[in-house]
Amino acid sequence: MDPSLFVLFGATGDLAHVKLFPALYRVTLRDDVTGPATIVGVGRSDWDDAKLQDAAVESLTDADVEEDDARAWAEGALRYARVEAYDQLAPVFEAARALEEERGLDGDRVYYLALPPSAFPGTITALGEHEAERGTVGEHRQPDAPWVRLVIEKPFGDDLKSAQDLNEIVHEHFSEDVVYRIDHYLGKETVQNLLVFRFANSFFESAWSRRDVERVEILVAETNDAAGRAGYFDGVGTLRDMIQNHLTQLFALAAMEPPARLDAEGIRREKIKVLRSTRTARSDEVVLGQYGPGPDDPEGYTDHDGVGGSSRTETFAAVRLHLDNWRWQGVPFVLRTGKRLPQRVTEIAVVFRRPPVRLFQNGGDCDPVPNVLRLRLQPDEGFRLSFDVKVPGDGFKVTTRELAFSYGDSFGVFPDAYETLLHDVLEGDQTLFVHAQEAEEAWRIYQAILDNDDIEVHPYASRAWGPEAAGGLVEAPPPEETGRPAGAC
Ligand code: BG6
Repeated sequence: MDPSLFVLFGATGDLAHVKLFPALYRVTLRDDVTGPATIVGVGRSDWDDAKLQDAAVESLTDADVEEDDARAWAEGALRYARVEAYDQLAPVFEAARALEEERGLDGDRVYYLALPPSAFPGTITALGEHEAERGTVGEHRQPDAPWVRLVIEKPFGDDLKSAQDLNEIVHEHFSEDVVYRIDHYLGKETVQNLLVFRFANSFFESAWSRRDVERVEILVAETNDAAGRAGYFDGVGTLRDMIQNHLTQLFALAAMEPPARLDAEGIRREKIKVLRSTRTARSDEVVLGQYGPGPDDPEGYTDHDGVGGSSRTETFAAVRLHLDNWRWQGVPFVLRTGKRLPQRVTEIAVVFRRPPVRLFQNGGDCDPVPNVLRLRLQPDEGFRLSFDVKVPGDGFKVTTRELAFSYGDSFGVFPDAYETLLHDVLEGDQTLFVHAQEAEEAWRIYQAILDNDDIEVHPYASRAWGPEAAGGLVEAPPPEETGRPAGAC
C-alpha cells in the first residue's frame, strides 16, 4: 500500500486518545504498510505539534506501548493544524500540502472525521470543495489523480431524515466507493467470524432458518454507565447509541443470506436486503429502561453531572424485530442492550425448536428444553452449544450439557477493532463499513419508536438485568446459566 497522508479531525478528543492513536500506531508499523506514518491532527484547541505529540505518547503508553517507541513514533508522524471552525480548513490544507511536499507523498489522503455530528455537514462540504479543486473526486476527478477516502464516525445522523440529509451532502461531493462509515463492531474479529461460522460450516447453516430456529436473541450487556458522557449521551439514549447501529449490524450479519462473493459489494448487498425485509419496530414491542441507584452505586442516571432530574433518556432498550422473508418468516429477533447491567457480555443466542415429541418425561409432565447456540462475541470469545444427554443409571433421566469452543484458548489475542478498520481504510476495502442505504434502512426500522414520546421508560436498579418489563420480550436464560429451567424435563 502506498504511503498516504492521514488527516484526523478531532485529534484532541476522547476517541483519538482511547482508540485512534493506539490503532494508528499499530497499523502504521505493520509490514504491509509502506513508509512512515504522516498524520495531521486537526482540532479547535490551542495546541501545537508538541502538545499533540505529548497527548499521543500518553495515549500509547496507556495502551502498553513503551514510552521511547511511542515518543519516536509520535514525533515522526504527528503534526497539528488548528482551525477556528470545522468549515474553515485552510490551515489543514496548508499543513497537508507542506507535509506531502516535505515527504514526497503522492497526494493520497484519508480524512477521518471523529467529530461531533453537528460538525459533519460543514467539514464534508469544505473537504469536498477542496478535493474538487485538486481534481480527485466526483465529476472533477482527473485520470491518475491521487485517491481520497472519507471516514465518518458514528453517529451517522440521529434519525432517518438527518441520515438522508447527511448522505445527500456526502454524495454531493464524494462517490459512495470512497466513503467509509464506521461501526466499530464490524471491526471486531468475532463479529467477522460470524460470516465464517455461518458460511464455512454447512452443519450450522443448514439449521439456520425458520425450520429449525424458534427465536434469536442478541444481547450487548455493558457494566459501564453514562457518567461523564452526559454531553453526548443525554437526549441521545440507547436506541440511537447502540441499537440502531451496533446491534442492528449484528442482527444483519446473523440474518443475512450467503453473499454471492465475499467482498464489500456482496456482503453489503445482503445486509441491505435483510434490513429492507425487516418490519418497522412497533411501540408495543419495545421496552425502554433507565438505571437508578443500586446497592453498590449510589448515583442513578439522573444524578450524573449534566443530566436533568427529569431526563427520560433510556439507558436500556429491548426491541423485538420481525422479518418478512423466506428464511425468517415468523422467527422473532430480540435485540437487547443496557448500561449498568450485572455483567459485560455480547452474545447472540440462537434458540432452536424443541423436539416435536416428548419422549423423555423425566418423571413428570414437563416441557422439553431447546438447544441453544450461544455465539459469544466479547469477552471470553467463543461459542457454546447446549444439548441433552442421558444421566447414567436406570431409566431415561435427561440433563443439559454444553459443547464449547474458546477463541482465546485457540488463538490468543487478536487485533483491536479500530486497528482492523484503519488497516482496511488504508487498503481501500469497504467490506467492514456501513453503506449509505444500510444506514438509512437501519434508521427506518426504529423511526416509529423514536417518534413516540409516550413509550414508558421503566426504572431499573443498577446491576439488574434491565427493567422487569423486558422479561416479556426475552426468553433465553441469562448468559451464564446452562442448566434446565424449572419445570423443564
Ligand atoms: C459506543 C457507544 O459506540 O460503543 C458506547 O457510544 C458503548 O455507549 C460502546 O459503550 C461499546 O463498545 P464496546 O466495543 O466496548 O462494546
